[in-house]
Amino acid sequence: MFASLSAEGPPLKTWLSGAAASIDNLVDRSPDGKIEIVGGCFRYLHDSNWKMFIENLNDAMHPMVVHQSSSGTAKRVFQDLHKETDAVPFELEMLAPFTNDYGFFEKMGLTAWKYGHSVTGGKISIHSAYSPIPGYAEMMVAAYGEERVKQIFAVNRHNTVVYPSFTLKGAITSVRVVKPIAVNKTVIESWVFRQVGAPEELFTRSITYCNLINSHANLVGPDDWEAYHRVQAGLSAQDAGEWISMHRYKGQDHALPDGTTESAGTSDMVFRHEYDTWKNYMLHNGVFP
Ligand SMILES: [Fe+2]
Repeated sequence: MFASLSAEGPPLKTWLSGAAASIDNLVDRSPDGKIEIVGGCFRYLHDSNWKMFIENLNDAMHPMVVHQSSSGTAKRVFQDLHKETDAVPFELEMLAPFTNDYGFFEKMGLTAWKYGHSVTGGKISIHSAYSPIPGYAEMMVAAYGEERVKQIFAVNRHNTVVYPSFTLKGAITSVRVVKPIAVNKTVIESWVFRQVGAPEELFTRSITYCNLINSHANLVGPDDWEAYHRVQAGLSAQDAGEWISMHRYKGQDHALPDGTTESAGTSDMVFRHEYDTWKNYMLHNGVFP
């Protein structure tokens, strides 16, 4: 449900721009074209400004370093304890790509749209190598036809940021809502959807992903949490530096005529774009030039 407190401003679809396709894809992945919220939500308190979380989601420079302690450990433990012939559990399929190399994250690509929204991935993402769920593709083909299903599954977006208030994942059918409560306190709510008509295993996978990666007792998020609160403390220090570098790939972004900007996956483009948007909201009351 969307609401605006302004009597003016663009219609919702214009405001969402390219981010709307992520919402459509989340719904399209249901053979019935419907999703439903199931259960409650995970609430996870972060000791940092809300911007830390939003900026982190489409930052592809940090995962292979910061997530060595979770994803890297899971991979090493599996290699040590299991034989070649053992099947990879789907928990590991989810954890392993967080420590993919720079080449992978670079190739994933970054796209930003007007009003601060952005996405990592598109053709590939950390979700694109999951094992297929038995019967799911057949159900989708029966509902939409082969060609359309190819188009639906070809969308491999990682995180979509709908700036500044929520983020979503189509493949994992979850939405995270960002609730700032103080200058150094932010609650992140994670909601999981069920794709109506799809095998229950798809929903189980989404719940498992949120348990492993988004919940308040997850394995991966504490790596980020540690970074957020240290950056927050660093920036609050009396002798903190006056400048923050957001220059990576500056001048190499690819601006398209429709206002979309594309960049290599590890570019700082989205941060520059988000701060431009923030400046517009603060100085021009959201009227964008
Ligand atoms: Fe992370």
